[in-house]
Amino acid sequence: MKQPAGLHELALLARRARKLAHAPFSKFKVGAALRTSTGEIVTGCNIENASYGLTICAERTAVFKAVSEGMRRFDAIAVVADSRRITPPCGPCRQILWEFCGDIWVHMEDLKGHSLTMKMSEILPFPFDARNL
Ligand code: THU
Repeated sequence: MKQPAGLHELALLARRARKLAHAPFSKFKVGAALRTSTGEIVTGCNIENASYGLTICAERTAVFKAVSEGMRRFDAIAVVADSRRITPPCGPCRQILWEFCGDIWVHMEDLKGHSLTMKMSEILPFPFDARNL
């Protein structure tokens, strides 16, 4: 499947957003940049909390920012972390990305520029969603 243009540029914005991460507990900083189908970009970072379970990931920060601004149609998200293995969205983020963004491109990069690009339907192949209700 042909990937859309500009995914590396999207990752550069995710890399910049990553610097704003609030991750004093894990020290694992993540940035995300979500692109609408008309090309607007909303960024996010992970925000941790002393009550660890209240932490929100970079991907969900970006999705909730965008949805709360009235954006509804998306085509790609970039996720950047500093890790030896490429960082994919966690389970809860997969669910939220699927429900709000559908089968978008997910472009994952590390700080060295290694990358992996997949569709959400590959990352979450048998989803539960509104069609099941
Ligand atoms: N995290 C993200 O923000 N996105 C991911 O894709 C994986 C995990 C955050 C949550 C937590 O603040 C830290 O990374 C360690 O799990």
